[in-house]
Amino acid sequence: MGCVKLVFFILYTFLCQLVFSSALPHLCPEDQAHALLQFKHMFTFNPNASDDCYDTRTLSWSMSTDCCSWDRVLCDETTGQVIELDLYCSGLQGKFYSNSSLFQLSNLKRLDLSRNDFSGSLISPKFGELSSLTHLDLSHSGFTGVIPAEISHLNKLYFLYISTVDPYGLRLGPYNFELLLKNLTQLREIYLDSVNISSIIPLNFSSYLTYLWLRRTQLRGVLPERVFHLSYLSLSSNSLNGPIPSNVSGPQNLQRLYLSSNYLNGTIPSWIFSLPSLSDLYLRNNSFSGKIHEFKSKTLLYVSLKQNQLQGPIPKSLLDQQELYYLILSQNNLSGQIASTVCNLKTLRVLDLGSNHLNGTIPHCLGEMSGLKVLDLNNNRLSGTINTTFNTENQLRIINLYGNKLKGKVPPSLINCRYLEFLDLGNNELNDTFPSWLGGLPYLRILSLRSNKLHGPIKDSRTNNSFAQIRVIDLSSNGFSGKLPVSLFENFQAMKIIGENSGTREYIVDDYSSSYANTLIVTTKGLDLELPRVLTTNIIINLSRNRFEGYLPSIIGDLVGLRSLNLSHNGLEGIIPASLQHLSVLESLDLSSNKIGGEIPQQLVSLTSLEVLNLSHNQFVGCIPQGKQFDTFDNSSYLGNDGLCGFPLSKDCGGDDGVPQATTPVELDDEEEEEGDLISWQAVLMGFGCGLVIGLSIIYIMLSTHYPIWFSRMVVRFDNIIAARMKRHKKRY
Ligand SMILES: *[C@@H]1O[C@H](CO)[C@@H](O)[C@H](O)[C@H]1NC(C)=O
Ligand SMILES: *[C@@H]1O[C@H](CO)[C@@H](O)[C@H](O)[C@H]1NC(C)=O
Ligand SMILES: *[C@@H]1O[C@H](CO)[C@@H](O)[C@H](O)[C@H]1NC(C)=O
Ligand SMILES: *[C@@H]1O[C@H](CO)[C@@H](O)[C@H](O)[C@H]1NC(C)=O
Ligand SMILES: *[C@@H]1O[C@H](CO)[C@@H](O)[C@H](O)[C@H]1NC(C)=O
Ligand SMILES: *[C@@H]1O[C@H](CO)[C@@H](O)[C@H](O)[C@H]1NC(C)=O
Ligand SMILES: *[C@@H]1O[C@H](CO)[C@@H](O)[C@H](O)[C@H]1NC(C)=O
Ligand SMILES: *[C@@H]1O[C@H](CO)[C@@H](O)[C@H](O)[C@H]1NC(C)=O
Ligand SMILES: *[C@@H]1O[C@H](CO)[C@@H](O)[C@H](O)[C@H]1NC(C)=O
Ligand SMILES: *[C@@H]1O[C@H](CO)[C@@H](O)[C@H](O)[C@H]1NC(C)=O
Ligand SMILES: *[C@@H]1O[C@H](CO)[C@@H](O)[C@H](O)[C@H]1NC(C)=O
Ligand SMILES: *[C@@H]1O[C@H](CO)[C@@H](O)[C@H](O)[C@H]1NC(C)=O
Repeated sequence: MGCVKLVFFILYTFLCQLVFSSALPHLCPEDQAHALLQFKHMFTFNPNASDDCYDTRTLSWSMSTDCCSWDRVLCDETTGQVIELDLYCSGLQGKFYSNSSLFQLSNLKRLDLSRNDFSGSLISPKFGELSSLTHLDLSHSGFTGVIPAEISHLNKLYFLYISTVDPYGLRLGPYNFELLLKNLTQLREIYLDSVNISSIIPLNFSSYLTYLWLRRTQLRGVLPERVFHLSYLSLSSNSLNGPIPSNVSGPQNLQRLYLSSNYLNGTIPSWIFSLPSLSDLYLRNNSFSGKIHEFKSKTLLYVSLKQNQLQGPIPKSLLDQQELYYLILSQNNLSGQIASTVCNLKTLRVLDLGSNHLNGTIPHCLGEMSGLKVLDLNNNRLSGTINTTFNTENQLRIINLYGNKLKGKVPPSLINCRYLEFLDLGNNELNDTFPSWLGGLPYLRILSLRSNKLHGPIKDSRTNNSFAQIRVIDLSSNGFSGKLPVSLFENFQAMKIIGENSGTREYIVDDYSSSYANTLIVTTKGLDLELPRVLTTNIIINLSRNRFEGYLPSIIGDLVGLRSLNLSHNGLEGIIPASLQHLSVLESLDLSSNKIGGEIPQQLVSLTSLEVLNLSHNQFVGCIPQGKQFDTFDNSSYLGNDGLCGFPLSKDCGGDDGVPQATTPVELDDEEEEEGDLISWQAVLMGFGCGLVIGLSIIYIMLSTHYPIWFSRMVVRFDNIIAARMKRHKKRY
């Protein structure tokens, strides 16, 4: 019997469809088709209208077909009226006016205009006339100004999504947010991201509401118990204060809770830990204190409790989750050890426990966590060796163990982290030679080994492509000795390009980067500072506070992308190679506390980006170059160089006919004789004598006309000659 019924049913629906589609070829009223086309023609089509998506389907709309068959249009089956219009990501660009023909589609129930570019358009009060609307999505489309009160007439709305690109570019009108919510009695979901609501959280809203997204909306006041009965709550980046209510009665459906970046305090109440289906818990950047209790469910996906004052151990239940992706507990006062059960989190992508008081050793199994991309245990009290073997399956891109008490060697198995981009082992007690084999990591961009007990010479590693992607290398405050590693510099291919001048692009961008920031301590411009995120503009070499000797190799001049070069507190000698003039984006140059001598090359005035220059405590002589940036440096740049004269020092160089001390011609050895003609150029370039106006003007012309390559090569050759000569000179005396 059942079977016969089924066959009959299929036959029936088939016949119905046949009758419908043949008998009613023009289901769509012509005026509605016209309205749709007219609407579309008000805009240009730009695939870039929204950053991340576009869809060309509206381009196929044409009067030659029934508008009910058009892509992204849905008609009522019986009346033929257009009831749904889904223009999400349609590449529409232009102003959205109140006279838009869209408002003729008075039967619309669902309207999605999100992710287009209506920049500068106001939200028309006429939206309030589309009284059948149950879904309205105006998010990420560039609407600005006041959200008109007429929106609150849409009392059939289930879903209301409005947001702006510029924070607070939209605001709620003079009518009260509370009244809006009160009128929309059917509301299930409301999303008002970055809209300036500027009020307290309303207490009276639709009993159907499950989703309340009011991130960055200038809300203030304390959290009412009422909101915790929703399933999805985002009130991040507001000015809420006080505690989370300690008791919430009734059913608890909360799955996703986002309260980051407020001024909430008190303990995290125990009912939060008992929520049966909690998946996302973001409470970062508040003032929560007390312990993290044991979670009762195993449903967690994302947990970020960063930047609070939480104490006590990491609860065991957090390490016993089945699908946890992010575990971010950094910048708290957590103590105790990291249990090796953390390795049971098979789905974990980000483990960030930095800046706590954790002690004990690093779990041996960490290197076997195959999905992990970020391992950040920086600034804790971890001790022992880095006793883990990173296996070849690992996906790690960031390893940060900075600021612990780790001993022993740099673990050789790091070579298996073939996706590694960021490695910070700084400020530990590692005792090893330079791990030149790290150069084999093809994506390594940032390497910090500063403040350890690393020692010995940095051996030549002529391997091709070794460290080719490196942008930041910090080996400072160790015991490295021998010559500066010329072959290493040669390999820094990524530093040989002048990248972006400014910008906020990060080196390491991934789906997890919004939750996790790869901070890095760097010394630049004379200060230790923490970069909250390492940007593509950070190109840094820091080899300071070691025992390097010998000369500054000319090849440094090839690293034209450098922003900061610090070779201070070593035993370097010789002169500053003129090739450094090519470092046109260099902002900070610190060569202090070495034994570098000779004159400061006049060419360095071409370093117009230079903000900080420290040449103090060396053996420089002669006149300080004058002009451009050099007019901005004060005495401190030159302290402890008795042979220097000229501005800003009080010691005068002696005016136009003054003969600076270091100009005594050096004898040419046989092998250098043929270079004799170049010497005169060098003399000109070095601006022999502060008052030598001609010399300066030649340099000026050279610099302003972009001197040819042969010329710069010549200068480079010269550095070597001078360096060789200085060496001999030194030996003689
Ligand atoms: C879209 O953006 C790309 C890259 O920013 C640009 O080259 C292209 O011209 C843009 N296209 C339009 C239509 O604006
Ligand atoms: C709609 O209004 C805008 C601005 O007020 C005007 O430029 C445009 O011509 C009008 N379009 C129609 C079809 O009336
Ligand atoms: C609520 O909606 C009705 C129409 O449905 C409207 O007349 C009234 O002004 C609205 N109330 C508020 C506070 O906006
Ligand atoms: C938000 O709106 C309030 C009241 O309308 C106003 O005082 C405040 O300056 C606005 N804030 C921002 C950031 O635009
Ligand atoms: C909430 O609004 C409803 C309908 O307007 C009203 O009946 C109820 O008393 C209000 N409740 C509160 C607590 O204001
Ligand atoms: C929390 O609520 C429950 C039942 O509603 C009650 O039994 C309990 O005493 C309350 N606890 C606190 C701390 O208010
Ligand atoms: C922390 O939250 C406050 C308050 O919302 C905000 O001003 C600040 O920018 C936030 N800090 C961070 C690092 O997110
Ligand atoms: C929470 O902050 C409020 C001020 O916003 C303060 O009065 C209160 O004492 C704080 N409570 C705790 C437990 O720190
Ligand atoms: C957290 O640790 C810091 C630094 O050790 C300390 O100054 C602070 O008092 C601690 N806070 C709490 C709430 O224990
Ligand atoms: C870790 O710190 C706790 C105190 O917070 C201390 O009792 C314990 O002995 C320490 N363990 C190790 C291995 O240092
Ligand atoms: C490294 O860890 C393994 C496994 O926990 C242990 O057997 C071994 O003794 C540890 N080695 C060192 C040097 O701590
Ligand atoms: C490094 O380790 C070696 C032996 O392994 C030891 O002789 C040396 O003293 C250590 N260096 C430092 C600075 O601790």
